[in-house]
Amino acid sequence: MLHASRRWRSERRSIGLVPTMGALHAGHLSLVELARRENDVVVVSVFVNPIQFGPGEDFARYPRDPDRDARLLGEGEVDAIYEPRTELMYPPGASTRVHVGGIAEPLEGKARPGHFEGVATVVTKLLAAVEPDRAYFGQKDAQQVAVVKRLVRDLDLGVEIRVGPIVREEDGLALSSRNVYLDPAERKAAASLSDALRDAARAYAAGERDPVRLRAVLVARLRAEPLADLEYAELVDAATFEKPGTLAVIAARIGKTRLIDNHDLSIPLPG
Ligand code: PAF
Repeated sequence: MLHASRRWRSERRSIGLVPTMGALHAGHLSLVELARRENDVVVVSVFVNPIQFGPGEDFARYPRDPDRDARLLGEGEVDAIYEPRTELMYPPGASTRVHVGGIAEPLEGKARPGHFEGVATVVTKLLAAVEPDRAYFGQKDAQQVAVVKRLVRDLDLGVEIRVGPIVREEDGLALSSRNVYLDPAERKAAASLSDALRDAARAYAAGERDPVRLRAVLVARLRAEPLADLEYAELVDAATFEKPGTLAVIAARIGKTRLIDNHDLSIPLPG
């Protein structure tokens, strides 16, 4: 990968990297499109990173369909798919981890101990392997975006982090590779996350600025859905993840499936 990448660089071609764990959907493809517009060369990495999954999480059953992924990426005119083997990424004895403090600790960091260390470690390795000019992440994982930006700044990694908007289903559900776990009743109930964000954005548009009351709007909508088990709902600053801010972030379990979503309340959410 590095050999190809350095050759492109010697030809003065700019490189965009879209890191993924495969099971691609329209959200990933929108990042590929953005990367295509902004770079001469587009690399998509596909690697289900074991160290960002906690014990009891869904690593073993995480959806994997490399043929379908390759087909979709072929249509998107990708220059390279980087699909490293696990033994290459983590050879025996690999014991280095990249720890991002502060911003990686609340919310997802608290709910999923070790998750962001796994993400920061693999992102650092992917950036080292591809040496891109720009790397593309989805706003769906808002805290991941903030953590990666902090990582890149703190370690002077010299790559521009670009963020693509959340792609939603017609009823508002944010696209996620984990949506395939939902049965039909759960799939319907899963729209309660974006419904909650829409309600809060409406309250904000109507003049509500009190974070406690805005949070109560989020919570009320999620509690009204019997299949939803709310894990957190907060209003944070998008860059620091400190409270309060206008970014509403939520996590809820729908049946056994854990879903997250977010929205900047100062922007109306259509639907
Ligand atoms: O967002 C993801 O798919 C993953 O967390 C990432 C950034 C590819 C790292 O494994």
